[in-house]
Amino acid sequence: MQIPEKIHNLILEEEYRKDDIGMSDSSVLLFHDKVLKIQPCCEEAENEYCMMQWLSGKIPVPQALACEKMDQKSYLLMSKCSGKMACEENYMQEPELLTKLLANGLKKLWSVGISDCPADWRLDRKLKAAEENIERGLVDMDNVEPETFGENGFRDPQALLQWLYDHRPQEEPVLSHGDYCLPNIFGTGSEPTGYIDLGRTGIADKWCDIALCYRSLSHNYSGKYCEKSYEGFEESLLFKELGIEPDWEKIRYYILLDELF
Ligand SMILES: Nc1ncnc2c1ncn2[C@@H]1O[C@H](COP(=O)(O)OP(=O)(O)OP(=O)(O)O)[C@@H](O)[C@H]1O
Ligand SMILES: [Mg+2]
Repeated sequence: MQIPEKIHNLILEEEYRKDDIGMSDSSVLLFHDKVLKIQPCCEEAENEYCMMQWLSGKIPVPQALACEKMDQKSYLLMSKCSGKMACEENYMQEPELLTKLLANGLKKLWSVGISDCPADWRLDRKLKAAEENIERGLVDMDNVEPETFGENGFRDPQALLQWLYDHRPQEEPVLSHGDYCLPNIFGTGSEPTGYIDLGRTGIADKWCDIALCYRSLSHNYSGKYCEKSYEGFEESLLFKELGIEPDWEKIRYYILLDELF
């Protein structure tokens, strides 16, 4: 494999294992204590590197060791997170602990001051990005909720986008992870030890992360990803830990918006 020289010099001949969890067109090589994420050059790859540096010392994110571009690809070398991924067996067996971890993870994000945050993913930008995804044919129609499109759903992504423009909720801006799902959060007990996959991290409505967290918990418990379902998760657990009442309209809105990414 061709790897930019600067990065090659940092990993030398270390052995690695390829991660097969991600669903996007990036590839991730896991070294002993470092991780190399290779993805097509794009706005999200740049955002990830930028936010990883900005968040350093604020919340636990990998340390960005180098970022290089070569042949239209971006190579981000970072430190490996400590702790366990939130969708690992031990967490899945303990829904109360897992929901505590995820709720603590959200609260930690919301505690970060956003006045000098370099990235803004509020709806003005997010809806434009969704529009571009539709134009470029990047909406993955095989990876949407079954009820989103079709008979009782939207005619097509364009119709969904129009609905999203027509039903914009009032935003409560916080630092938002942007893809707050179980494989992107690491923890030890109920404490987050790592946030990864920061391509859409920046200022956004707090309900964006709540919605994707809720969807990810539901899917992982129902066995959508690994054919194994688990007992014991109730959505009330998450809202109890967060200390807020669910706003199902906003949750639905942000799950629908995510269908276009
Ligand atoms: N710094 C890290 N420390 C430990 N594991 C990591 C790290 N970065 C990536 N991984 C592993 O690689 C997987 C994919 O990484 P990441 O989520 O950044 O890529 P992606 O391709 O954008 O994924 P997605 O499918 O969520 O879009 C993670 O779920 C995790 O298992
Ligand atoms: Mg991921």
